[in-house]
Amino acid sequence: MRLILFGPPGAGKGTQARLLTEAYGIPQISTGDILRQARAEGTTLGQKAAEYMDAGKLVPDDLIVGIIEERISQPDAQKGYILDGFPRTIPQAEALDTMLERRGERIDAVVSLEVPDQEIVERLSGRRTCPECKAMYHVAFNPPKEEGRCDVCGAALVRRSDDAPEAIQKRLEAFHEQTEPLKDYYRRRGLLKEIQGTGNIGEVYERIRAALPE
Ligand code: AP5
Repeated sequence: MRLILFGPPGAGKGTQARLLTEAYGIPQISTGDILRQARAEGTTLGQKAAEYMDAGKLVPDDLIVGIIEERISQPDAQKGYILDGFPRTIPQAEALDTMLERRGERIDAVVSLEVPDQEIVERLSGRRTCPECKAMYHVAFNPPKEEGRCDVCGAALVRRSDDAPEAIQKRLEAFHEQTEPLKDYYRRRGLLKEIQGTGNIGEVYERIRAALPE
């Protein structure tokens, strides 16, 4: 199964990708996670990406496309993968099509999580993540057992630098202007599954599973 998880920032792409990874036994490929890891390691890619990310802007397409091409060539991605946060522009989608054609592969479905902007702001303002094991929480909707501590590994939880109020607004603008047009791109190809992304995490997961082939 080759799946694209699509949606605005905070729609629950990462949360659902982790659940789907377990269900299908295929890896989650998150461009956001790859860029944050590159930043943490201080690589050239990470340094180039940092200023765009903190400003809530998209990182240039040429940097992103190279990351994906390298990642989907890894042995663990041969049976399939879940793309989380890619593609995000029409040129990225076209580059993905070219890559897949070259490899004799195709995307099976594009799941678009539909969440209103007001709820996005609430979700991102309260999100906390574990810098060690990447587990994700929300102070109100999905709190850890002990405040500020990861349930899985006990590390102190952090707030992402791009979850500051101004950056959240910029990310939403970037989504509506640059990323949302991709829905038509995939609708025309008969791949788009629009899923209501509100309700609790388990309810959203069940809707996604019901829309996907077994
Ligand atoms: P990225 O890391 O991809 O961020 P994003 O798309 O903005 O999405 P998020 O990770 O913020 O949210 P999510 O949809 O995964 O939601 P989550 O599950 O965390 O990208 C970051 C940056 O990197 C970009 O801004 C850009 O600069 C750059 N970048 C990355 N990819 C790029 C690309 N392809 N091209 C160019 N630049 C790129 O959930 C959010 C919160 O809500 C959590 O607290 C969670 O617990 C909670 N939650 C989840 N589901 C529910 C629910 N059903 N009910 C209540 N709360 C919920």
